[in-house]
Amino acid sequence: MKKAYRTYLPLILLLFIAATKPSSYINELTAKQKAGKDIYTKGIGSSNVKITANMSGVNVPATIMPCMNCHNAKGTGNPEGGITPPNITWQALTKNYDVKRQDGETRPPYTEKSLRKVITTGIDPAGNALHSAMPKYNMTRQDIDNLIAYLKVIDTDQGVGISQGRIKMGFALPDAESTKKNATIKKLVQAYTNEVNQSGGIYNRKIEIEFYSKNTLEKEDDIFMLTGFNDTYNATNRTTPTLLSHSKKLVSSSLDTKNTFYIYPSLMSQSLALVTYSNKRLKQKGSSPTILYYGNTFQKQVAQNMEAKLVNEFNLSPFTSEINESNLEDIVQNNAIRDDQALYFIGPYHIGNKLLTALDNIKKRPYIYLPGSIASLDVLNAPQPFKDNIFIGYPTWISKRAASGEKLYKTLKEKYALDAKWKNSQLDALIMLLTIEESLKRSGQNLNQELFHGELEGLYEFSTGFIQPITFAPNKHIGSTTMYITNFDSNKNRMKLIATVNSSERRHE
Ligand code: HEC
Repeated sequence: MKKAYRTYLPLILLLFIAATKPSSYINELTAKQKAGKDIYTKGIGSSNVKITANMSGVNVPATIMPCMNCHNAKGTGNPEGGITPPNITWQALTKNYDVKRQDGETRPPYTEKSLRKVITTGIDPAGNALHSAMPKYNMTRQDIDNLIAYLKVIDTDQGVGISQGRIKMGFALPDAESTKKNATIKKLVQAYTNEVNQSGGIYNRKIEIEFYSKNTLEKEDDIFMLTGFNDTYNATNRTTPTLLSHSKKLVSSSLDTKNTFYIYPSLMSQSLALVTYSNKRLKQKGSSPTILYYGNTFQKQVAQNMEAKLVNEFNLSPFTSEINESNLEDIVQNNAIRDDQALYFIGPYHIGNKLLTALDNIKKRPYIYLPGSIASLDVLNAPQPFKDNIFIGYPTWISKRAASGEKLYKTLKEKYALDAKWKNSQLDALIMLLTIEESLKRSGQNLNQELFHGELEGLYEFSTGFIQPITFAPNKHIGSTTMYITNFDSNKNRMKLIATVNSSERRHE
């Protein structure tokens, strides 16, 4: 006996190695199991007939009552509450002895047949009716078979977008169409993930990226987490942990999303931080501010919010107007714009430059404030008297970059021949990837989305080497809240940092 073992040992080992070799996909679900998982986690079946859940005689769509809500993601039940949903993994349901339920009654092991019955009628294999807290489901035979196929593997399913060998991440490119900028960012992201993967991945899991732009990510199902620049994809009801550069939306709507984190404040709060700064600086002097915005509804909303802040917090009555090529001259002639008063400009480069020239022509000298992420003008070539009067706020500033960050980027750039253009966006991508890598590592070997979300939310002063250290908290989903105020430095002929102001963007619980 002993001898036989020894003889076969190498063979057994070989077989073992052969069996575990495609380890990266060992826990990948089959199509049937995946379909079952959709039912389990979302109440969505694969037939045209929608699944319904009957709760004490009332039919509701199963989408609002998926199994996971009560039996939890792993099928192990939920210890909270009065009647507790039991463990419904196949292993627990088919134990080869009678199991005592909470009401004291016992039931024999389930078979596929009796399991189909209990899910649809609430009658267990002993013929007893379950407590009414467990809904009765109406679904097709195919759906229920898929569901059971999933219950058989639910305990080994490591979670959405993750298996023994890989983590799947969605990356939202900045532009909606395929552009050079998108290609540049993509290259940086691939370079970085390649570095991580070549050095063994994270707990031996390779990072796999699915790139998308605008709304082209078809389904979130098999994506562990999302990151990138674009905010439009399914933002509010997103269940996937998400880390984005910044929100392009209004403060309130973007920050109520529990699963979304941002590196920088929203464009709205960046603009409002500028209002705070300008009023600190001007004190009583700046009593008649002007707000000029160009075009679209978003810029208008920013202008209105700035106006509201000036009125409510600073007791001022600003003059607010849309500005464009045709009304620019008239607006500038308008008496509302005065010397030594604040003028907030939210518009593009060419309008900004025209505005400066028009003001200079009639020798008006307001202080000009621009949120640098959504407005611009040519400071370098601005009329001389204006140069000192222009203040631009940015969510990040070059002098805050550490040598380590620059070194990392330089190494990647040389090794992978990265494009020199769009450096700031490339660095933003790198900042997000570093933050994700850190949170994945902290989540440990038995990583899942919930753990990852928790680690991200618990990040405290994590230094990427590029921007101020990132801190998140349950009510703080903006990692870096400092706004950098810059002003022209005539000696060095470039913008210099003159102040920082905190953009205190908070999540509403
Ligand atoms: C609203 C909460 C809720 C939802 C949603 C729910 N269950 Fe239950 N389930 C329960 C409770 C509570 C029990 C325990 C009932 C009892 O002990 O009488 C239970 C019991 C069961 C049992 C019996 C276990 C046993 O040991 O006899 C099975 C099987 C089951 N659920 C499967 C499912 C499946 C599959 C779904 C989704 C299609 C689902 N449940 C959705 C609450 C829920």
